[in-house]
Amino acid sequence: MLEEALAAIQNARDLEELKALKARYLGKKGLLTQEMKGLSALPLEERRKRGQELNAIKAALEAALEAREKALEEAALKEALERERVDVSLPGVRLFSGGLHPITLMERELVEIFRALGYQAVEGPEVESEFFNFDALNIPEHHPARDMWDTFWLTGEGFRLEGPLGEEVEGRLLLRTHTSPMQVRYMVAHTPPFRIVVPGRVFRFEQTDATHEAVFHQLEGLVVGEGITMAHLKGAIYELAQALFGPDSKVRFQPIYFPFVEPGAQFAVWWPEGGKWLELGGAGMVHPKVFQAVDAYRKKLGLPPAYRGVTGFAFGLGVERLAMLRYGIPDIRYFFGGRLKFLEQFKGVL
Ligand code: DAH
Repeated sequence: MLEEALAAIQNARDLEELKALKARYLGKKGLLTQEMKGLSALPLEERRKRGQELNAIKAALEAALEAREKALEEAALKEALERERVDVSLPGVRLFSGGLHPITLMERELVEIFRALGYQAVEGPEVESEFFNFDALNIPEHHPARDMWDTFWLTGEGFRLEGPLGEEVEGRLLLRTHTSPMQVRYMVAHTPPFRIVVPGRVFRFEQTDATHEAVFHQLEGLVVGEGITMAHLKGAIYELAQALFGPDSKVRFQPIYFPFVEPGAQFAVWWPEGGKWLELGGAGMVHPKVFQAVDAYRKKLGLPPAYRGVTGFAFGLGVERLAMLRYGIPDIRYFFGGRLKFLEQFKGVL
């Protein structure tokens, strides 16, 4: 038995086979184990002799198994090393790494500036209802002011739009034409005083050219509290200009009409390197009708009025315009033209 077993062990081709051999001889029901069990049936003298023999065989088998196992493991390792050999002198494979989009970079810069002034950043939905995008902002249907915003209307079948408190919103759906509807949503769900900015994507049903896109980004601002005045609005825009364009920059306000503010203004900044006025956006004092619409909506939800005796200012600016200036981009269509060569320039900017 010993000869045959030793030969089998020596010839085992892999660990699997070796394991099977070990079980065959030394396992619970192995040949050697059986023999050892049989010892008790023998007379004492013979039992002692046979016992010694069997122990010697066992030791020999164990040693052989161990030696073969080691040899097989070494062979396997050697084979693996050979197979997985790496030629460290080969040129490396460059991994593709992404970066932040220039609009994201600009948006973050703006949000950071206002965060430092105590504003909170919040976001609203891109699919909006006619009520939040227009009516609540004092832009009723058939009013000529609606023509300021060419609108993508949606059929919205089967779509459930949530209101400020998760309630279902009824009415016609659209892609928001500005970030201003979030003013209404936020006011419905919160009580003043507060300062917020709302970055986000907006949509206009418009022809595109070097300075117009159908999809672009805005940053909305809203500050409401007791005794908020136009002076606070000017201060906020002044701080923005300082942060973006340095201590020698100037801001300018000119009267203009927006239905949701009174008085309304457009604002521009001037800075030495630019050497000209850049129109940044619209602003003004929140129109009383907007506060009224908010309180009326709150009432519908069972909430007490919260916007009597407060005032507020709001502003909205175009993110692409600023990014074009900041990064020297001549055509707004480059942003979402999908060219990697363009986007790769902004890697590692932040
Ligand atoms: N929502 C306006 C637009 O997209 C911009 C705007 C003007 C926002 C005046 C404001 C504001 O908050 O007060 O044309």
